[in-house]
Amino acid sequence: MGITWRDSLAIGVEAIDNQHRELLSRFDRLLNACESGQGADELKSTMSFLEVYIKSHFNDEEALQKLHRFPGYEEHRAQHLYFIGRIRELREEVNREGILVHNVIETNNLLMKWFLNHISKVDSELGKFLLSRNS
Ligand SMILES: [Fe+2]
Repeated sequence: MGITWRDSLAIGVEAIDNQHRELLSRFDRLLNACESGQGADELKSTMSFLEVYIKSHFNDEEALQKLHRFPGYEEHRAQHLYFIGRIRELREEVNREGILVHNVIETNNLLMKWFLNHISKVDSELGKFLLSRNS
């Protein structure tokens, strides 16, 4: 059970789609590591990677929204802040408790459910808005 990129997830902005593809491949790596019993090690590197990469990815999306005066900016940004906050909480849990099975499961759930839902609904709205302005 992995996550693979599919074209229906593309929002039509190449730079953003490439970043989403990179994120999904990292999440997929974590899922595969879990299946082969290496989840704990991979969880640490996924979290370090996410902490840096997700902020620059969200910054890029938000800069695009500001540039084009996207009307859903505030709501979209609130979702990004929620995700960053959840990642921080999970990381703090791991620092406090060590890596336990439930940390790995919660992280996987967040990445799979929240992120795929966010791309396919909220980011795709942004993509449609940007395409409509360019046509
Ligand atoms: Fe987004």
